[in-house]
Amino acid sequence: MKKVVVITGSPRKGATEGMADAFQAAAEARGFEIVRFNAAKLNVGGCKNCNACGRVAGRTCVFDDDFTPIAKAILEADGIVLATPLYWYSWPWQIKATLDRFYSFLVGNFDIKGKKSALIASCGEPTVEAMDGLVFSFKKTTSLLGLEDVGHVLVPGLHAPEEHKATDACAKAAALADKF
Ligand SMILES: Cc1cc2nc3c(=O)[nH]c(=O)nc-3n(C[C@H](O)[C@H](O)[C@H](O)COP(=O)(O)O)c2cc1C
Repeated sequence: MKKVVVITGSPRKGATEGMADAFQAAAEARGFEIVRFNAAKLNVGGCKNCNACGRVAGRTCVFDDDFTPIAKAILEADGIVLATPLYWYSWPWQIKATLDRFYSFLVGNFDIKGKKSALIASCGEPTVEAMDGLVFSFKKTTSLLGLEDVGHVLVPGLHAPEEHKATDACAKAAALADKF
């Protein structure tokens, strides 16, 4: 059975959670196991650049917080989906802290190469170009980690938490499951 880790990064129940729900439902319908974390509700501190990655048995990062189960799930998974709103043309700190801790895979020599990865994102401005910085960060990060980037669902023009329901956002997020 394929296993996919979904990490969401919005502090509210809006477009990000809705699209992640749609992806999860479609992936589970294909028989995948989904392990989901809402980084905005967890206690994940940022990377301290101590470069002690891998020096404590059973963890990628020496610091033990809610990143510990996320890292364990990623090591066991076939794929990773990051789902996030755009905050100031970049990642919200809630999910960025989790992403920063991916450093422990690299420096600790934990092999996540070849796992599939995808990005689900939305923003308020009317054009997808507003998300160029986020997409650049995602592409470069996944490339450096050796992950296979299988696709992006980018939905502009969303403000209120329910607005995505009147668009094709959830259909696109569901279709992303085919890429895994
Ligand atoms: C702190 C903050 C910063 C934001 N920055 C941007 C931005 O730089 N560009 C943009 O187009 N939308 C921006 N937005 C709007 C959100 O990206 C957008 O409404 C998104 O769809 C919210 O997703 P959610 O419903 O999952 O929380 C911002 C929203 C907040 C709260």
